[in-house]
Amino acid sequence: MAFPSSFIDELLARNPIEDVVGHYVTLKRSGSNMFGLCPFHGEKTASFSVAPEKGIYYCFGCHKGGGALNFMMEVEGLSYPDAVRALAKRAGMTVPEDEQYQSRYRQQERLWALMKEAGRFFNSRLYAQEGKQCLEYVQKRGLTKSIVTQFGLGYAPDSWNALVDAMRKKGYTDQELKDADLVGEKNGRIYDRFRNRLMFPIIDVRGNVIGFGGRVLDDSKPKYLNSNETLIFNKRKNLFGMNLAKKTKEPYMILVEGNVDVVTLHMYGFDNAVASLGTSLTEEQVALLARYTEQVVLTYDADSAGQQATQRAIPMLEKAGIRVKVLNVPDAKDPDEFLHKFGADRFRMLLEDSSNRVEYQLTAIAKKYNITEDEQRIRYIQESAALIATLGSAVQREVYSRRVADAGKISFEAMESEVKKAFAKKMAQEKKRQEKIDLAPARALQPKARSIHYENMRSAMAEENLLAMLLRDSSLLNAAGALTGKHFSVPLLGRVFDALLSRYKEGLEVALGALPDLTPEEMSHLAGIAHKQAGPASEQAFRDCVSTIMGESQKKEITSDADLLAFRNKLKESKGAK
Ligand code: UTP
Ligand code: MN
Repeated sequence: MAFPSSFIDELLARNPIEDVVGHYVTLKRSGSNMFGLCPFHGEKTASFSVAPEKGIYYCFGCHKGGGALNFMMEVEGLSYPDAVRALAKRAGMTVPEDEQYQSRYRQQERLWALMKEAGRFFNSRLYAQEGKQCLEYVQKRGLTKSIVTQFGLGYAPDSWNALVDAMRKKGYTDQELKDADLVGEKNGRIYDRFRNRLMFPIIDVRGNVIGFGGRVLDDSKPKYLNSNETLIFNKRKNLFGMNLAKKTKEPYMILVEGNVDVVTLHMYGFDNAVASLGTSLTEEQVALLARYTEQVVLTYDADSAGQQATQRAIPMLEKAGIRVKVLNVPDAKDPDEFLHKFGADRFRMLLEDSSNRVEYQLTAIAKKYNITEDEQRIRYIQESAALIATLGSAVQREVYSRRVADAGKISFEAMESEVKKAFAKKMAQEKKRQEKIDLAPARALQPKARSIHYENMRSAMAEENLLAMLLRDSSLLNAAGALTGKHFSVPLLGRVFDALLSRYKEGLEVALGALPDLTPEEMSHLAGIAHKQAGPASEQAFRDCVSTIMGESQKKEITSDADLLAFRNKLKESKGAK
């Protein structure tokens, strides 16, 4: 580990967790903890908790947690050393730089610089002789020079080495070109990956070019070639156009499917349009949206894939506390085509008319059935009732029940009882699910983190409680007696116990945030343990945990000795039988 622990300790002391988190999340105090809306998964009720005394945060919803450094890594997407640098800057401290980290940091900076250079190169080619066809295509698609400039669109020449040569001239190495995923490699020689394509730079919210999408100029396949994951590019965490849309004055964002849709929308004055990067919408993208807006208008393509994607996106966005409306583009396959055909005013009218998601979903159900046939009409009513039963507001339930009753030609009372029935069914299902969980307590206690598994639940619970207690009151470590990490049934917890014990002996702060060498998943798990309400941290309770852990670890040895004995006897028997 590169940074001296004394430095990290001071860094954390000078960056109280509530200040660091408070920069991103509005926190309200409740007892010794503070609560706010989780910045990582987006939510309506505050399940994100900060424990200032312990220097950690933990989300009871998405189970992410850790110290101030983990928070910076997660929220800003930084590497560990960059998180250290960010906090040091905040506190006016000088970072003792380490070779290896410095080089990794430099590597990132170089990649950002390279991608920007590449973007400039592509853009310049658009106006060169070789880019003539591409420029014509751009004009045919109705894009103006100023929107091309705003998005930094460009042309990747129809050549195996145009970009490679240009970037080499600028001093970039072949390795860097490979790291940026701008080139392919064959027989030890690298060549341009993007050829004869219209280039869309993908720019993150901090303004760095992190990837490219390249569209063909005709109908050939694949239509798009996209950058793969690199050190600086994660498509799950970014949205195309967000670098511009985040500055909008509108209180909502327009979420569309295509890059071209985003560009056209911005050109027509809708500066709040974004698209997911050729993937279906991810949790991370939802959280990013939730950071900048409270409402999303889903404007996916009119085809069935687009409608399916809409149904999938609705609950994801609502779970993050985002209000959802759905806009169906009529008489065009996507917003791009609609705008060129009918203009901005007509689109603005569609936006104003866009229905809330319940109306949209009811319409989608109605479309599935031919309600002139009784059998189908009943199915239509039942399926609609199931949807209405999920609504939280009584007013909403009544309004939509009336609407479906009218459409289905039944009385409001009959519809009401259908909704009640659907609600009861839902509750029964919910109860059954809960019972299943209650019946399998051991499974419920298993860590959420996939890399951590509890073999011995009795010992593991004692280990968790012991750590929770000593993180609250480190003087309890005086009562640890002969206990060491070796006695723990969960290797991770044992390792952490040893690290904390040695910090205690050295007179350092006994805190999670200062521990090195933990993965984000491990850190989240530990922060969860530290947030456990494990009753008062008394010496007696602590000693009980110690004796449980040591007792269980002894049992393990005995069983394995017994196993050994049985094995030997078997061996003897088989020899005797010969
Ligand atoms: P579309 O086919 O709708 O593309 O795919 P588009 O950008 O709207 O282009 P036009 O209007 O047809 O010219 C939507 C998005 O899906 C991703 C791209 O990000 C695209 O913008 N995609 C599509 C791919 O990644 N690869 C493909 O082969 C196709
Ligand atoms: Mn499209």
